[in-house]
Amino acid sequence: FKVTWDAEEAEKGGYDHFMLKEIHEQPRALRDTLKGRISHKGDKVILEEINMTPEQIKGIKKIVITACGTAYHAGLVGKYVIEQLVRIPVEVDIASEFRYRDPIIDKDTLVVVVSQSGETADTLAALREARRRGARVVAVTNVIASSVAREADDIIYTWAGPEISVASTKAYTTQLVAMYLLALYLAQHRNTLAAGNIKEILSELKSIYAKAQEVLDNVEPIREFAKQYHKAEDTFFIGRGLDYAVALEGSLKLKEISYIHAEAYAAGELKHGTLALIVENIPVIALATQQSLFEKMVSNIKEVKARDARVIALAMEGHTEVEKVADQVIYIPKTHPVLAPILTVIPLQLLAYYMAVNRGCDVDKPRNLAKSVTVE
Ligand code: G6P
Repeated sequence: FKVTWDAEEAEKGGYDHFMLKEIHEQPRALRDTLKGRISHKGDKVILEEINMTPEQIKGIKKIVITACGTAYHAGLVGKYVIEQLVRIPVEVDIASEFRYRDPIIDKDTLVVVVSQSGETADTLAALREARRRGARVVAVTNVIASSVAREADDIIYTWAGPEISVASTKAYTTQLVAMYLLALYLAQHRNTLAAGNIKEILSELKSIYAKAQEVLDNVEPIREFAKQYHKAEDTFFIGRGLDYAVALEGSLKLKEISYIHAEAYAAGELKHGTLALIVENIPVIALATQQSLFEKMVSNIKEVKARDARVIALAMEGHTEVEKVADQVIYIPKTHPVLAPILTVIPLQLLAYYMAVNRGCDVDKPRNLAKSVTVE
């Protein structure tokens, strides 16, 4: 009898891969990232590592969010949320583009850099460029005392815990939480939202981790879809508004770990090109969680169904109308529409995971990719 002890297997805590473990850690990671950041009365955001004065906050004329990869996708959600709740114009730029394009920023610009590792070379260079031009920089990072944390003016830490899998999952959803907290923090200082609205979103945010758990408990339909479609060569993700931002992240997850070609499209753009690629049996993942855009999404689903695509739709509970047009529907629990991305991305992470497993891919270490890109 020989006892075998594999440290890596032990760290995976019974899961086949770090990615699956990290996907399942999201409820905990979300809760930790929120801990201590909502006042006892549930009416205010507390961000202790933000040291801007009320005057500085009122003086912000523009916000630029810059990052790479998945962190960039969190920034895209940030743009929608900040513009909607704070009414400050927000640009989102890929760090390797931002740093080389002579960006128009000054002391009235708030630059938000998002980086799980806090060490990505282009993101760090973008941070330095922003500061050189006089902007104030807020860092959203998962690593204490990382380069990005050390060089920024203010920090919002995500408390995802160490992320081992190259494909980012819990880092992304906790970055979303950081975006919501920042947006609500700015809104409360600039009075752009009624107190009741802030309280309502905060109360939904407090229960988001429990809803994330509900999504994780409903994995079977996704596993089934992956079993059926893992041989696909091309896939499309469509959505509008916040769903479009999540579609981009869903397609990145799928391509990086399963090597299936995946494209995300703003659903309204379909007829400007992509529709030409929709052929019989092609999987289309349609995100339809945004109530105000729901009818528009239903029409887009009809468009791809008319070309015999196989549509799996994601919708909020209660929006059963989508069952009439999609082949399969995955429901996410009801929440405030701005918070939906946290829940919507989880089935997409699981879809990428199970597709990759079915194809026999090395899920945690996809070919040609690194966890942290510290060289240019
Ligand atoms: C690499 C990783 C991605 C990550 C990106 C940015 O490409 O594979 O998962 O999103 O870098 O990393 P950062 O640490 O700056 O968030």
